[in-house]
Formats: sequence, structure tokens, C-alpha cells
Amino acid sequence: MINKDLISIVEETSKRLNLNYQILNFGERSYPLYYGEEILSQIGELFQHHDIMGRILIVSHPQLRNLFGERVEKSLAQAGYVSEWVVFPIGEQYKNMTTLSQLYESCVKARINKSSAIIALGGGVVQDITNYLSATYMRGVPFVQIPTTLLSQADVGMGGCAIDHPAGKSLIGQFYQPRLVVMDSSVLNTLPETEVTNGIAEIINKVMCLGGAKTEEIEKDIHKIKLVDWQTLREYIKLSNIVKKNIIEEDETGLKGLRFILDWGHTITYALERVLDYSVSHGWALGIGMHGAAMLSYQLGYLGKNKVNLLEKTIESAGLPTKLPANIQADELIKYINFDQKVKDGKKRFILLRDFGDAFISEYVSDKQIINCLNFLI
Ligand SMILES: NC(=O)c1ccc[n+]([C@@H]2O[C@H](COP(=O)([O-])OP(=O)(O)OC[C@H]3O[C@@H](n4cnc5c(N)ncnc54)[C@H](O)[C@@H]3O)[C@@H](O)[C@H]2O)c1
Repeated sequence: MINKDLISIVEETSKRLNLNYQILNFGERSYPLYYGEEILSQIGELFQHHDIMGRILIVSHPQLRNLFGERVEKSLAQAGYVSEWVVFPIGEQYKNMTTLSQLYESCVKARINKSSAIIALGGGVVQDITNYLSATYMRGVPFVQIPTTLLSQADVGMGGCAIDHPAGKSLIGQFYQPRLVVMDSSVLNTLPETEVTNGIAEIINKVMCLGGAKTEEIEKDIHKIKLVDWQTLREYIKLSNIVKKNIIEEDETGLKGLRFILDWGHTITYALERVLDYSVSHGWALGIGMHGAAMLSYQLGYLGKNKVNLLEKTIESAGLPTKLPANIQADELIKYINFDQKVKDGKKRFILLRDFGDAFISEYVSDKQIINCLNFLI
């Protein structure tokens, strides 16, 4: 149950600072997501409302510090906080143990302790590694997420973290909840178009496919999202967060198996990313992965063809592909699908759709059926 004190703090804060919010229910570890514009300039006040005290360490990339540093620092200083920065270069290749080790050093130097707080200011890479850092440094220090990409606002800003290991992507992780998450639409203004498209892929995945919401409207709204229309963005980010919230509140660590539903569309996607040695963006691969999973759901008799067509059209409106590149063989993909984390006792498990908003886990999908579906995507 969510602590009553937290509910009143969040209600009071959102009223004073004119923000929208929702609270994720993890009992004593519940926390709010705040939505608004220009919240970066209100960070100091937000921290005061949430009784965050002591020194603040901000983890980010140099480019993002240049873009947003002044606003964050000023707001924290006005509220009486002492803050320090630690930055590391952009790129998935830095979401690893080497960067983590350097971040631990920075925590020591900055004298971070349980009365301090660590802020993650950045996209999914910064969110994941800083979440892991905060979970493990001194066995857990207060942690605040400020996701700055559409993908990280729609998805990463909640429900666990992972860093990469040479043996596999996102192999090492934790479930450690932040104190609060700040979703500021205005930071998305500077996002390159490819990153906006990446985020749209996850929004189609969550809002349309898993949530069964906006199934007809989303295609028309995509151009507003591409123009970074704050109101439209906020609506879709919030809807996307609600879909993930409903699943992870039910199955925080994935032990009940329900969390696998979030993998909808990702089985072919991950295999494709590996075959292409991560040379393509996640959103690009997800366009094909979602289309493939919908096609498989249709071929196995669960999903109507009209739904597959609608999804295909929506993915294409986002500027994403729905068919495999010519040089990819179905056999190659199957090899990596066999390593999927959902495989249990040698059996592949696939997330299928009966309808938008009605996903389920199937243990009865054969290699032949997957190959048949992949061949259709060529
Ligand atoms: N933990 C989870 O639940 C979860 C879920 C999905 C993805 N992920 C992880 O998230 C990562 C991908 O996240 P991502 O797509 O945000 O990538 P990212 O963090 O690499 O950011 C993408 C690029 O956008 C730039 N950027 C970020 N914010 C910006 C802004 N406001 N203006 C201009 N440029 C900006 C970054 O500097 C970077 O170059 C992957 O590592 C993936 O594994 C985690």
C-alpha cells in the first residue's frame, strides 16, 4: 500500500508546482512520476518537498550537461543544495563495469552517502547505469531519475535497471526504485529526429499493442509527436507509463512471469540487433520485431489480419521498417532467438496478441512456425 504521507506530499507538490503525476505502488518503496514542462528549473523545490537532503551528485553526458546543466544547478543552488557533476561519454558501449567503477570513485570523492542523492540526467544509458550505481553504492543511496529521451521517458524511467557485460547486453541488473522521476517534456526539444523515432517505436509497442489504447488515433498523432508537441508527447508518455506500471506493480521482479509480457515484439528485435551487431537503432529493429510478432499471432490464428495491417501502417507512419533487410536469413535469427531469456527448459516462449491490449505468453511456438513468419517478413 502507498504510504499516506507520500500521497499527501505528492498532491501538495503537484498543486504548488503545477505538475501532473502518478504514483507507482511498491509499498514502502512507492514513488511518484511528475509530468510537466520546464521542471528542470523546479528541481530544487521538488527535492525540498520530498525531503531530499545533503550533497547531490549528477550523473550525465558532457553534451547534456552543456544543454541542461545551468538550469539544474541554478535550481538546486537556490534551494540550498551543493551539487557536483560526473559525466561519461555517450554510447551503449559505456554502459559497462568500467564506467561503473569510475562512477563509484566519483561517489567516494564527492563524499556521497545515504543522506545524499544521485541524479540520473540522460537517456536510457545514463538511467540504467546510475540506477545500478545508486542501488549498490553503500548498498543503496537515494536516487532521482530525470530521463531526457523519449524512449527513456516512455519506458526506462521505471522498473529496474541493467548494465552490459561482454557475455551479453543488459546481463547485470537490479530492481531498485528511485525516490522520484521527473518527466520534463521541454528537454525533448533538442532530441535528434532518430531518437524521437526510437521513442515512437516503444510508444506504439506499449500504448497501442500492450495497452490497446489510441489504436486508431496513434497513426495520425505520430506527426505531432515528431514535431515534439509537448501536450501530445505527455499524453503518450503517460499512457505508456501506465501500461508498464500496471505490469510491474503486479510482478516487480518478473518471478510471476507476468513481466515477460513487456517483451512483446522484442524477441525478433533482440535477435535482429545481435545479428546486425547492434549497428541499427533499437527502434528500427523494433518496427520489424513488432510486425513479426503480430504476423505470427495472425498466422497462429489469434490476431485478425486487419489488426496486423493497422499496426504495419502505424509503424510505417513512424518512418520505421516492417520487413527484414535483404541480407538477413531466418536461420540466423532463430539461432539468437534460442538464447532469448524467455526460453524455459529448451522451449521457446513467445509473446503473442489476441487483440491490441490482450497479450499472452505462448509456449507452443515451433521453429517451423517462427521461420514461416520470418520468411513472410523478407
Ligand atoms: N531499464 C529498462 O527498463 C530499459 C528499457 C528499455 C531500454 N533500456 C536501455 O536504454 C538504453 C537506450 O536508451 P536511449 O535510447 O535513451 O539511449 P541513450 O541514453 O544512448 O540516448 C540516446 C542519445 O540521445 C542523446 N540525448 C539524450 N537526451 C537528449 C536530449 N534531451 N537532447 C539531445 N540529445 C539527447 C544522448 O546523449 C545519446 O546520444 C539502452 O541501453 C537500453 O538497454 C532500459
